[in-house]
Amino acid sequence: MRHASLLCLSLLTLSTIASAQMQPPLTITHVTQVTPLPNGIAVTADGGILQITALRPDALRIRITQGTQLPEDASWAVLPAARTATTTVEQDSTATTVGFHTADLRVILDRASATITVTDTAGHILQQDIRPVEYHGTGFRLYKQMQPDEHFFGLGDKVGPLDRRGQAFTLWNSDTFGWQESTDPIYKSIPFFISFNQGRAVGILVDNTFRSSFDFGKELRDAYSFGAPDGPIDYYLLYGPTPKQVVEDYAWLTGPSPMPPLWSLGFQQSRYSYFPESRVMEIANRLRADHIPADAIYLDIDYQHHNWPFTVDTDRFPTFPGMIKELAAKQFHVVAITDLHIAKQPNVGYAPYDTGVAGDHFVKNPDGTYTGWVWPGNAVFPDFTQHQSREWWGTLYKSFYDLGIAGFWNDMNEPALFNIASKTMPDDVQHRIDEPGFLKRTTNHLEIHNIFGMENTRGTYEGLLKLKPDLRPFVLTRASYAGGQRYSATWTGDNSSTWNHLRLTTPMLLNLGLSGFAMSGADVGGFAGTPQPDLLTKWIELAAFQPIDRDHTADGTGDQEVWVHGPAQEDIRRRYIEQRYKLMPYLYTTAEQMARTGIPIVRPLFLEFPDATPDHHPLDLDAPAEFLFGPDLLVAPAPYPDELDAYEVHLPPGEWFDFWTGTRVNHAAPLVSQDAEQRNAAQVHLIVKPTLDVLPVYVRGGSILPLQPLVQSTNETPSGPLTLRVYPGDNCHGTLYQDDGISFAFRTGTFLRMDSTCQLTPGSLHIHIGAHQGTFHPWWKQLAIEVYGVPSTTTTATVNGKPYSLTAPSDGKFTITVPDTGKGIDLSLP
Ligand code: GLC
Repeated sequence: MRHASLLCLSLLTLSTIASAQMQPPLTITHVTQVTPLPNGIAVTADGGILQITALRPDALRIRITQGTQLPEDASWAVLPAARTATTTVEQDSTATTVGFHTADLRVILDRASATITVTDTAGHILQQDIRPVEYHGTGFRLYKQMQPDEHFFGLGDKVGPLDRRGQAFTLWNSDTFGWQESTDPIYKSIPFFISFNQGRAVGILVDNTFRSSFDFGKELRDAYSFGAPDGPIDYYLLYGPTPKQVVEDYAWLTGPSPMPPLWSLGFQQSRYSYFPESRVMEIANRLRADHIPADAIYLDIDYQHHNWPFTVDTDRFPTFPGMIKELAAKQFHVVAITDLHIAKQPNVGYAPYDTGVAGDHFVKNPDGTYTGWVWPGNAVFPDFTQHQSREWWGTLYKSFYDLGIAGFWNDMNEPALFNIASKTMPDDVQHRIDEPGFLKRTTNHLEIHNIFGMENTRGTYEGLLKLKPDLRPFVLTRASYAGGQRYSATWTGDNSSTWNHLRLTTPMLLNLGLSGFAMSGADVGGFAGTPQPDLLTKWIELAAFQPIDRDHTADGTGDQEVWVHGPAQEDIRRRYIEQRYKLMPYLYTTAEQMARTGIPIVRPLFLEFPDATPDHHPLDLDAPAEFLFGPDLLVAPAPYPDELDAYEVHLPPGEWFDFWTGTRVNHAAPLVSQDAEQRNAAQVHLIVKPTLDVLPVYVRGGSILPLQPLVQSTNETPSGPLTLRVYPGDNCHGTLYQDDGISFAFRTGTFLRMDSTCQLTPGSLHIHIGAHQGTFHPWWKQLAIEVYGVPSTTTTATVNGKPYSLTAPSDGKFTITVPDTGKGIDLSLP
């Protein structure tokens, strides 16, 4: 009897579930009313309303909801200035459609289905709904037509190939130690992607903080879709047509990464964990003794008393303040971890807990303060969505910042929790929103989860700025959301010491850069496990050309510093780190471009060369391991880095030089005697078979690269001239940017910019080095101008109109060293 009733119950439950699943979704269709707005249209339809507005001629915002009232207009990601930007539009209407157009875009809403089509002014479809918006309860999904040649990029560091086509992803910040190629979700949620279809790029930010999901042709062959279980339909469409323009638009929408401190671009040494104090000093001393240039040493959780954030274990670190000073004297910046879980330690004088309780700064569950188990044991969590709690959090940094700790590392901020199946906070944890621009309200974890880490870093960044307003903060985070680049750099979390993880690094960092996070890195050598010698060497080679170059590994793994595995390996590794330091003026100039425009430091090829292939497919699809480091250097590691076979390097059309030898690639005739047509024949394909000590790197012909003499840390003033390497070619230009590397004085003009150009005509080369702009006084007095690709018969030049005799160029290269008066230099050949 009992069994029978149980059976009945379960059958009933099953049939209820089945019928719920079979319920057709609610859709928004049939436009019933259209209200023209100066900047767009407001539409009432069966089932809901739509509002489509133009923020700029090339940027739209689309808001849709069930019912009759748009939800609260607030955003954690989008800057208020962008969200409230507006431009006038022209209304369009036909018997079957309504819509409007701007100078760049046309919006067409079908009256019957309420589906949206966006085209450029020539009528090329940029995005098209294939069916009405669907609602399943509070959840929604939008389906868009996917074109045969459409490719997708972005969504942060989701693992997998650079092109997201054919894959589906969930956005839910997750602590995924030892993640693999198939792991999804991982640490960050950045609901921004770029579609690139036959040379036309469109960016989409879906500003919804819930557990959203994106599908690029995995569910349906010809459609991509996105949705979320709750929250607003609120998305932005940014039109290029170039991908670079979309990336810049996205920086306009959510803000670029701020100007980083120069030292953060140096080599960084970390491990979980260096202790005691003597071990930290041993590492620092060895870096200097072995002449491995380095700028930062990290302190992971073991420097703390029982893993309590904002404490120091004085047994392990008996002279902590003295150690920081000593490291500073050796030109090391210290980055200390400061996780967000505050140890639940009442009545023991632990100020972060006591002041947090006093100020009511911790999140609550429905029964009182929420407690979770992490590194310190029982812990409580700041309510980062209250501005006053973030301000309080910022004050916790004071004593550490005063000691001279230069940067801070916000880890475990998904938030990560131990001893709970979900590995994060329960859904019913309450978060209070008390924030300018937002309604004051309390919501549950489902809405806040994905922005928790970002608001953690915001508290840190803004707190540091308040403590030392003239110093550029450096914050490194594991979790974040769209817009989080305003507050922190990031890394790809707990990767592994395997060849496959080395390979995965490039697409992850490229997609992070396309998603706003231009200051990014991956644990060099891998976090979980111990790398074999050749793997560590190849990893150090590659990371020399990545924005953040940090060697880091887990607790209990083998040593992973540059010198392990003996002098032969160390020599190779040192050479690459040295090369990074020599390229620092170029890297720093690229970082300044990033901070001004949002264009990332590492770039997929299609970002700079969207027209590289005749059918406009991204060249990256043919060359999956290649990437650009800044505008002019193309790095071409092996597609499968453990394989020693020869492989093909694809170079975009134009002139290319081998960075290491300075020789022109695949061309025999002297450059200056060729005309542009000959030079730009087509893409160049090379077959290479590099040995362990070689990472192929090429320079774009037409670039002027600034380099400096070798230093052991960015604190050290280089001695000697600034080198400008001129690689002639079309569209020849280069920029050098310098400032004090640490403060905000550049904002009031204390910077130096030199814009240079060169013109190549058959038989002659003219180089113009621009005059100094800005008031910053650089370290060099002389410029060494190195010119490549020159016929060996060249023996004379003119510098500022005066003859200058040359030593016959060797290997197609000659150098002219001249004083840098700051007024500019004109150099002509012959
Ligand atoms: C997390 C971090 C890792 C760190 C460790 C200890 O696993 O991802 O980088 O070393 O915690 O703090």
